[in-house]
Amino acid sequence: MIPITERAHNIRPFLVMDVLERAHDLEKEGRHIIHLEVGEPDFPTPQCIQEAAIQAIHREQTHYTHSLGLIELRQAVCGHYLNKYGVRVEPDQVIVTSGTSPGLLMVFSSLLETGDEIILSNPHYPCYPNIAAFLGAVPAFLNVHEEDGFQFRPEEIQNRITSRTKAVLINSPSNPTGTLLARELMERIAGLGIPVISDEIYHGLVYGEKEHSILEFTDNAFVLNGFSKLYAMTGWRIGYIISPKRFVRPLQKIQQNFFISAGSISQWAGVAALTRAGKDVEQMRKMYDQRRKCMIRRLREMDLGPAIEPKGAFYILVNARHISSDSYNLAFQILEKAGVGVTPGIDFGQNAEGYLRFSYANSIENIMLGLDRIKAFLENR
Ligand SMILES: Cc1ncc(COP(=O)(O)O)c(C=O)c1O
Repeated sequence: MIPITERAHNIRPFLVMDVLERAHDLEKEGRHIIHLEVGEPDFPTPQCIQEAAIQAIHREQTHYTHSLGLIELRQAVCGHYLNKYGVRVEPDQVIVTSGTSPGLLMVFSSLLETGDEIILSNPHYPCYPNIAAFLGAVPAFLNVHEEDGFQFRPEEIQNRITSRTKAVLINSPSNPTGTLLARELMERIAGLGIPVISDEIYHGLVYGEKEHSILEFTDNAFVLNGFSKLYAMTGWRIGYIISPKRFVRPLQKIQQNFFISAGSISQWAGVAALTRAGKDVEQMRKMYDQRRKCMIRRLREMDLGPAIEPKGAFYILVNARHISSDSYNLAFQILEKAGVGVTPGIDFGQNAEGYLRFSYANSIENIMLGLDRIKAFLENR
């Protein structure tokens, strides 16, 4: 038998997919399941974005584009960063990608040699260490704590830097914690002198506070962003990188070889998202905020409330260590017995073991029903 490469063999799966697949099996058997595990908007993609894509098809804009992306979309990205954050980026610093995920692979590939280190928070979005390890790099984890609102302590980042450190990655608002990094903290991280990779995919989904782009504080940074979350466009597979100019050509060559270009129709949809979907986004944001407040209130009544209120994305990371230290097992018990999907904390790193991630990308009715079911399950076990 031909052996499977170690690289392909060792890459870790998403545990949340185990939960989701089991949930779908139960649904096929006729069970009613409430999904609080999924990390995707329950809203349809706004109409103006859908129409832009349909028009692109009718105009037969259905071919490869420039490998860096449509100039119209790159200009729209620059306009967005100027209007929202007051930062000037040039279209030739923007590389349009088929989602933030390929963007992560491309940026990591251009920065990390075998054995190089990248500093990541623990908990973290699971793909970060998985992609780094796939490339032969070493994730250098730094625990962040619930009592700090899961914020980095910059002095600890400083202490973690070695001669092999190539970057620190920040993700604000964060998956899975919903944390928004404070401005001063971002400023201090930018001042550490190592490149910062800033995953800004949850920007715009912020409640009562203001998010900041890393580009407000340093040019020694790579921004990763995408349309999946804010514009409810997970299936369109579209995102972008904003990169220091020196790295654009290498990133472009990676894009050409691996992906050629992002999808043309999705790129036209992206232009409409950035230039015309403001009102739709605001409506969705308001609804997420109502759901967030409801979920926090109910979780607190159940003694599962977060120590510090999460202010962004659509997740709450809940400490369930007093119930079980095995989050995978607990998530499956909740699914099987209460009919509610939640994500085991262990998916996001060892430091989130004993936690569960709840997503409020679901209706208030479903959120309340799901939490009622969990309450009954916990009382009767
Ligand atoms: C923090 C974070 N980054 C990146 C992604 C991937 O997004 P995309 O759909 O743009 O590939 C996700 C998706 O869940 C995410 O949570």
